[in-house]
Amino acid sequence: MLKPPSRNALAAAILSLFVLIPGPVVADQDSDAWRSITQVAQISGDPEKPRRHFRVKNTARLSIEEASRIYGEMIDDIYLAYGAGQSDFSPPYRDWGLYNTAPYRSATHGARYVNNYANEVAKDYGRYEEAGIFPVGSVLAKDSFSVTKDGVVDIGPLFLMEKMPAGFNRVSGDWRYVMIMADGRLFGETNGRGAQKVEYCVGCHLAKEDQDHLFFVPEEVRLP
Ligand code: HEC
Repeated sequence: MLKPPSRNALAAAILSLFVLIPGPVVADQDSDAWRSITQVAQISGDPEKPRRHFRVKNTARLSIEEASRIYGEMIDDIYLAYGAGQSDFSPPYRDWGLYNTAPYRSATHGARYVNNYANEVAKDYGRYEEAGIFPVGSVLAKDSFSVTKDGVVDIGPLFLMEKMPAGFNRVSGDWRYVMIMADGRLFGETNGRGAQKVEYCVGCHLAKEDQDHLFFVPEEVRLP
């Protein structure tokens, strides 16, 4: 079994956040960010088949420096929580290339702060829109954490895409989408356990079918 993340380190991250709360946290512009008092909103529709990510409510807006510092303090715990590198579905993504200069808030992944890693096979990820079709064995990993305006810091899910052999899944462009919860449990994987729970990943990423279903890193946090 996995070891739970070190509470001390988490507490330190929370404490350090409180220290910087007064200046940096500005109003959140997400239209629905304030509607729920609970940190994690109810998902719409059938819980077994979500239509979007469990969204963090009341997300803080962090500067690049703050987001980087908090991530730096949490990364060990995040990695450990996923059981990364310890099972076939939770790869050792920390050894891979990191393609964003700082964690950024991803509205499409539950308003969490995220990072994008790619394994050696997928190193063309750094060419962004010019990358073309990715080879079989490419794996892209997006880890995540959340920070609310009242200073609650938490580990979010790990989002993965793995390029499978041709014929695996026509609609997904042969990508296997995997979501791993913050406690290391598998939430769902394309063509496997809980497949219906990750169908909405496929649906949204289909919008970028012309660039192998990939959206790439937002301009402002791309590597030079
Ligand atoms: C509503 C649209 C939407 C949904 C749903 C969605 N994504 Fe994404 N995904 C994006 C966007 C936009 C990006 C790039 C920017 C960002 O990170 O926010 C992205 C980026 C990624 C990346 C990095 C590769 C790339 O496209 O650049 C991975 C890995 C990923 N998503 C996995 C998932 C998984 C797994 C799910 C389902 C559990 C999922 N996504 C659901 C929109 C979506």
